[in-house]
Amino acid sequence: MEKITAVVVLLILKSGTVSAGWSVTFENPNICAIKGSSVDFRCTYNYTDGETVTKTAWYKGAFKDKIWTRVRLSDFPSYDNRTEYHGDLQHNCSLAIHELQVNDSGYYYFRFDTNKFGQRSKTSVYLSVTGLSAEVHPEQVRAGDKVTLECITQCQSPSIVWFKDGLPLAKPEFRAQAEDSGTYFCAVKGQESLHSDPVALDVQYPPTNVSIDVSHSGSLALGSSVNLTCSSAANPAAENYTWYRRASSSSFLLLVGSGEVLSLQSLEASHTGLYLCQVRNSVGEDNATEVLLTVDRNDINRVILFVGIGLKVVIVVLLPLVVIWAGRKTCKSAVNNKEHSHDYENVSASQENKKFKDKIKDKTVTQKEMYV
Ligand SMILES: *[C@@H]1O[C@H](CO)[C@@H](O)[C@H](O)[C@H]1NC(C)=O
Ligand SMILES: *[C@@H]1O[C@H](CO)[C@@H](O)[C@H](O)[C@H]1NC(C)=O
Ligand SMILES: *[C@@H]1O[C@H](CO)[C@@H](O)[C@H](O)[C@H]1NC(C)=O
Ligand SMILES: *[C@@H]1O[C@H](CO)[C@@H](O)[C@H](O)[C@H]1NC(C)=O
Ligand SMILES: *[C@@H]1O[C@H](CO)[C@@H](O)[C@H](O)[C@H]1NC(C)=O
Ligand SMILES: *[C@@H]1O[C@H](CO)[C@@H](O)[C@H](O)[C@H]1NC(C)=O
Ligand SMILES: *[C@@H]1O[C@H](CO)[C@@H](O)[C@H](O)[C@H]1NC(C)=O
Repeated sequence: MEKITAVVVLLILKSGTVSAGWSVTFENPNICAIKGSSVDFRCTYNYTDGETVTKTAWYKGAFKDKIWTRVRLSDFPSYDNRTEYHGDLQHNCSLAIHELQVNDSGYYYFRFDTNKFGQRSKTSVYLSVTGLSAEVHPEQVRAGDKVTLECITQCQSPSIVWFKDGLPLAKPEFRAQAEDSGTYFCAVKGQESLHSDPVALDVQYPPTNVSIDVSHSGSLALGSSVNLTCSSAANPAAENYTWYRRASSSSFLLLVGSGEVLSLQSLEASHTGLYLCQVRNSVGEDNATEVLLTVDRNDINRVILFVGIGLKVVIVVLLPLVVIWAGRKTCKSAVNNKEHSHDYENVSASQENKKFKDKIKDKTVTQKEMYV
């Protein structure tokens, strides 16, 4: 019975004595840090003059077996190699933790023992480890819309910096333009390597820079074919193409086709005109500047010219030959023709064919006679 009383008295004595001159002070009891970064718990401790420090240790508040307890950091394998005790056995009890993980969040305590007493800190350091996440508002952006980038973190707004496609961005609020499409991330200033996951901004815009590409340059020959290709920049990609022709003299537009490529075959003079394509996507539409297509009317004359030259060649080269040949033929059959000429007078037109055959027979006979 006496023994038990003695223990109780000792316990009371102990806790009463402890507070006198003993203290643990944390420079910053509330720390918010970004996942992956390092943190330094700056800490000092004091004790009664003349005592000697024998042991120091850091603890973490943990929920074990349904109760809150303090577990030594060295008992967590996950803190191996990540903690560095910067303190000593005098008055410095600072601790650094590196490569912070979200589950490092919690209450941290310091405890030291002297040759007389052991004392754990009454107060604690609360560490909150947070990731960064980037968001674009609104989710769907069209050219001209106001865009706000938001960097979400549990830490009380530290100085946030933004990057677009890896390059620093001046302001996270702007009116969207086509060229603002890209990948964005945020980071805490000074810890740029620990940035958020990237978030994409896709700025939709109606077709622009619409132009027509003509497969053949210069004037087009009659009967040839040509392809007109309509190109543009658009997001989402251009969906519908409509082709029009304007007869150069009028303002009347004639619908002539659809699709990215207008293929004109067997060109005629009537194909001549100003062509334009109209491009549409879900955001809007735009037109190309008109392109003049000229089908060469002179080609008809050229054809006639070539035919003319051809005819002249035929006349100049072949005619003499024909004349010579015909001349020789006339000589050969002259005698024969004279002999029989009276037989065929007054023969009707219907008998012309027979007459021709007879003539040939005669000719054959004549030739046989000649060669005999
Ligand atoms: C530490 O304790 C001693 C005596 O107990 C006192 O004189 C001194 O001011 C204390 N130092 C700090 C930093 O509290
Ligand atoms: C700590 O480092 C040692 C030696 O570099 C290594 O063997 C051990 O696996 C590491 N522990 C952890 C938890 O990473
Ligand atoms: C924290 O999470 C890591 C994995 O992300 C795990 O290895 C570690 O054990 C966890 N630490 C604690 C204290 O639960
Ligand atoms: C349109 O063309 C201009 C000039 O070439 C260029 O600067 C601009 O980026 C183009 N627009 C788009 C949306 O491609
Ligand atoms: C036009 O395009 C079609 C299909 O791509 C192709 O077969 C044809 O050769 C092209 N015609 C011209 C004149 O380029
Ligand atoms: C494109 O054409 C289709 C069929 O005519 C139509 O249903 C669609 O709405 C058009 N798209 C646009 C952006 O005009
Ligand atoms: C494109 O041309 C069509 C036909 O002339 C016209 O109705 C439309 O207003 C034009 N669109 C633009 C954006 O100029």
